[in-house]
Amino acid sequence: MIVKNPRFEISAVKPSQYPKNGLPEIVLVGKSNVGKSSFINCMINRKKLARTSSEPGKTRQINFYNIDDNFYFVDLPGYGYSKMSKVEQEQVGNFIEEYLFNRQEISLIIFLVDIRHEPTANDKLMYDYVIRSKLPFIVLANKADKIAPTKVNNYVLDIQKILNPIGDNIFLPFSSEKKIYSEAVWNEIEKSI
Ligand code: GTP
Ligand code: MG
Repeated sequence: MIVKNPRFEISAVKPSQYPKNGLPEIVLVGKSNVGKSSFINCMINRKKLARTSSEPGKTRQINFYNIDDNFYFVDLPGYGYSKMSKVEQEQVGNFIEEYLFNRQEISLIIFLVDIRHEPTANDKLMYDYVIRSKLPFIVLANKADKIAPTKVNNYVLDIQKILNPIGDNIFLPFSSEKKIYSEAVWNEIEKSI
């Protein structure tokens, strides 16, 4: 897909602030600092449209990026950022749940995990939540640039074996840093919208 005019549309903290035009939404889910905002920038070829940081906890609201009036990328706050106060973590958890649970426009969840690590307890909880939601999703093992290219597929398989032992869901490698593996992800996005 060639993206021509991606733009930030709104930061929402409650459903009344979500866009009302009914465009399909591709939503980024994953622990804090896994690379959700970087993923959006990578896919739309902009360095800084979505705000990123090496410090976890950068994204605190639900940010909607309008992609050529075709669909939205929705950047959710990350979970599991231990330095957030309890109250803030709860608030962020509520934003995420309220959005995922009620939003009819969601056409695909892109669930990011870190290719280098075993999925965390929170990753497992979120994976179960996504399964129960019955929404379409794919899992991306991000930061694949940190692994030798010949080993990438094995790392992805190891993660799949933990989260999805039956192997009936889609797990793919990804790297925003190197902008590789994005074609397979675009295919999944195009199928969903
Ligand atoms: P929160 O907003 O805190 O939930 O984080 P996030 O998931 O949006 O992460 P963000 O995109 O801000 O990236 C966090 C850090 O990871 C930044 O320093 C990025 O440069 C780095 N990063 C993101 N994607 C990749 C990747 O594919 N490879 C490598 N090596 N680093 C990455
Ligand atoms: Mg972010």
